[in-house]
Amino acid sequence: MGEFPATPGIRVAPSLLAADFARLAEAMAEVERAGASVLHLDVMDGHFVPNISFGVPVIAALRRHTRMCFDTHLMIAEPRRYAEAFVKAGCDHITFHIEASDRPAALVEHVRSLGVSVGVSLNPTTAVSAVEAILPDVDVVLVMSVWPGFGGQSFIAEVLPKVRALRERLRPTQRLEIDGGIDASTIRAAVEAGADTLVAGSAVFGRGDPARAFAELQELAILAAQRTGAA
Ligand code: DX5
Ligand code: ZN
Repeated sequence: MGEFPATPGIRVAPSLLAADFARLAEAMAEVERAGASVLHLDVMDGHFVPNISFGVPVIAALRRHTRMCFDTHLMIAEPRRYAEAFVKAGCDHITFHIEASDRPAALVEHVRSLGVSVGVSLNPTTAVSAVEAILPDVDVVLVMSVWPGFGGQSFIAEVLPKVRALRERLRPTQRLEIDGGIDASTIRAAVEAGADTLVAGSAVFGRGDPARAFAELQELAILAAQRTGAA
């Protein structure tokens, strides 16, 4: 359906994790109407992270209700084992955690062979050196600005130097995504550090009006990018 944008630009990617799970289709429609093109899907397995969210059947059901790019964040052990099932369910993009992969280069190849774009994610204390070898081969690098597993946590500003370092290393066609604690008070620092794709869960769906919250965050992100010359 949608593709993860390969062109530079600033976008907020709403995370469905903070939506009302009894009304997921409506939650998607609200942010899609407000202009969202990338929807962040947080898959948790209770092993790699101490929480369980949703998986393949839920995503397959959601696929029928939106054209947005399904940006799938696999917070699971054994991502190699499940990648194909997520692609078959309609995911447009798969991000795996470097901490969960013993053969990351082979996994990048595998995901690409499934016909979707591929990203690698780093936990807050994981250094750039951990992804060094595959950096030229991924479409997206996802920096966690909270510990994965739960929405609604506070932004860890200590990851910003890592965002800056990655920005310098990535080509213009590679996206730099940041995930966790992004809201009206933290989005500017994330954009200034070089992030171009800002995941926001609670700040979009945790308030009364997701469409309005999305639009406000998107505007703040674009303003910050204009100030820094990134857009
Ligand atoms: C955390 C997830 C995030 C989460 C962000 O494990 O990867 O995508 O939904 O939620 P907020 O925006 O509430 O920090
Ligand atoms: Zn996420």
